[in-house]
Amino acid sequence: MEGISEATSNGQQTSSAQSKVITCKAAVVWAPGESFILEDVEVEPPHKMEVRIKILFASICHTDLSAWKGENELQRAFPRILGHEAAGVVESVGEGVEDMKEGDHVVPIFNGECGDCAYCHSEKTNLCNKFRVNPFKSVMVGDGRTRFSVVDRRNGERRPVYHFLNTSTFAEYTVVDFACVVKINPEAPLDKMCLLSCGISTGLGAAWNTADVTKGSSVAIFGLGAVGLAVAEGARLRGASQIIGVDINPDKFAKGREMGITDFVNPKECSKPANEGWGFTVVLGIHLSPRLLPLHPMELFDGRRIIGCVFGDFKGKSELPNIVDKCMKGEININLDGFITHELPFAEINKAFQLLDEGISLRCLLHL
Ligand code: CU
Repeated sequence: MEGISEATSNGQQTSSAQSKVITCKAAVVWAPGESFILEDVEVEPPHKMEVRIKILFASICHTDLSAWKGENELQRAFPRILGHEAAGVVESVGEGVEDMKEGDHVVPIFNGECGDCAYCHSEKTNLCNKFRVNPFKSVMVGDGRTRFSVVDRRNGERRPVYHFLNTSTFAEYTVVDFACVVKINPEAPLDKMCLLSCGISTGLGAAWNTADVTKGSSVAIFGLGAVGLAVAEGARLRGASQIIGVDINPDKFAKGREMGITDFVNPKECSKPANEGWGFTVVLGIHLSPRLLPLHPMELFDGRRIIGCVFGDFKGKSELPNIVDKCMKGEININLDGFITHELPFAEINKAFQLLDEGISLRCLLHL
């Protein structure tokens, strides 16, 4: 772990006078694929321009599952606190944070928005120059250290626990950069808002911002997990007339129908490839490594377009609060309940991972 220094637990570097080190439970992964262990971790107070959040709800996204297994290009830094889809309340803020205070309701975002760099000022991207999603990052931007530490039972020594995707939400308290936390309407139900922290925003945004689905259009969705169904939800809300769900697991079709998908295709039952025709393809999510996309340039020549997006092209801090307000006013009617298929206490996080791994759950909401 080049360039990573030991985390101190005495809070010396903090600027927040009343803020102290908190000892709390966190689900720590010590090595890829090993069970989560609820450890007593020490969480430092937030440093300058950082926020410490009390996490109340966390859900499990497929990216957490991939990182846990160590099966893709996400950095393998262990021990680590995974999790990036959550909702909670601000516990304390570090020096210089002005847009949030103790008690504010918030959702963390893995793809931060500083609001001040050239990219944040540009309308063409939601990738902040400093706080954008970075799979290879496992420490805080400010000082290259972690804010978590734990006692290693093998030798009794205290050691740093690494961060994940700017957020690390499988913990009762976490520290994030101000750019990676969004203040939302305090009236909004935090359990459902948790889903907007990653997966559902990613799918909705892909339909609304990236593909800009219009009334009457046809949309095909490959993979009917939570993100795929959120794309369906986004397409439905835009008035798409045909929403085709493609999945090799036919168990997904019943839920898909409930969520507004009109037609289903199981590629295993097709004699021809399911991907014929022209159109606009949006690639979402993290993919297994080192699989490549086999693509002949002529396939683009005759009218196919392919693009990727992160977090549904939403600028999290500027746009999520509006979406939440519109949901509260009933101006957009997102079926968030439909995505929460399971709820479990935090202590049962291993079971929650199993439910996702086996394709049984869409979103399992953990209560912290
Ligand atoms: Cu995610």
